[in-house]
Amino acid sequence: MAEHMSQSELDYPFRLLEYVNGFRVSKVIFSACELGVFDLLLKSQEPLSAEHVARELSASVDGTERLLDALVGLEILEVETTDGKALYSSTDVANVYLAEGSAKSLHDMIIYQSQTIYPLWNNLVDAVREGKNQNEKTFGSLPEDVFQVIYRSEEEMLKFMGLMNSSWILDGHDIATAFNLSCFHTIVDLGGCTGALAREMAKAYPSSSVTVFDLPQVVETAQKHFAQENDTVTFQTGDFFSGELPDADLYVLARIIHDWPEEKCLPLLKKIYDTCKPGGGILLVEAMLFENRRGPVMAQIFSLNMLVQTEGRERPPSEYTDMLNKAGFQNVQVCRTGKSYDAVLAFK
Ligand SMILES: C[S@@+](CC[C@H](N)C(=O)[O-])C[C@H]1O[C@@H](n2cnc3c(N)ncnc32)[C@H](O)[C@@H]1O
Repeated sequence: MAEHMSQSELDYPFRLLEYVNGFRVSKVIFSACELGVFDLLLKSQEPLSAEHVARELSASVDGTERLLDALVGLEILEVETTDGKALYSSTDVANVYLAEGSAKSLHDMIIYQSQTIYPLWNNLVDAVREGKNQNEKTFGSLPEDVFQVIYRSEEEMLKFMGLMNSSWILDGHDIATAFNLSCFHTIVDLGGCTGALAREMAKAYPSSSVTVFDLPQVVETAQKHFAQENDTVTFQTGDFFSGELPDADLYVLARIIHDWPEEKCLPLLKKIYDTCKPGGGILLVEAMLFENRRGPVMAQIFSLNMLVQTEGRERPPSEYTDMLNKAGFQNVQVCRTGKSYDAVLAFK
């Protein structure tokens, strides 16, 4: 018997039932996002009936009403009854995080979870049995390279980049300020994708120059779809495994190491060490496991996600320290932000 289970959980497994139904809760939110429920309610100046929402979204009244009621149950929407008619409106949290146009919108993250991650997780049993990703089983015969799979179409690339972008809306500032990085005048974000984290770095250290380095097709898409007026970052194309790295005082690798096994990470870290100037630094950004791997639960779940989708894993601080030391870096410092992502800084 698991000791942490309280007597009341044994009498009636409330928490277990919540976990078992967790996928349905996710799907309620995913579906409402995909249908455009939160955007419609945000735009509307007044609460709307289920019939009105159904008409606007070209959906069935019955299905819409059940979906809206479930969202009220989850406290994501609110309802008031006037003359026997239920009228629905969004909570502030839904307006800020779930409506597509909002500055802090997690809409792109949710779309990727729903349309790409959810089908992959359907093959979690096989991923655990086989100890490898389920890209081929989920999406059909594809190239071996994980990123060729992730970028298998322009639509998929855009969705993935939207997912990457979303995270830094929430965690970017905490990561940029986890350490005082003002001594680094040139910063290169290797695999920097849309530039979302790099822009947070540029905001936190306005006298530093910040460059996003990524594969040519990614940089092209970033500039087409995620560019900003008077952008605070510049872009450079390249391949960090096979090509040369740009000069920099600080190399940022956010969610790069977790994509790959140690045998691919170590040569990359050694290459960065060789390119880095003495006194220069490297900043790893990852969702770090506790040293004993007993949490945080989100990092444990992310590690399963790395199993179903990539060649990598989430790691505890000592594994990052070990790899960095093997590559030559010293004075490794770890900062847990208490949010989804943590930072590790080391010096040459
Ligand atoms: C998991 S994403 C992380 C993106 C970004 N650092 C973040 O945290 O939002 C991995 C990134 O590495 C890039 N990448 C993958 N292989 C690469 C390579 N060989 N050279 C340069 N960038 C690469 C991908 O295009 C992608 O942007």
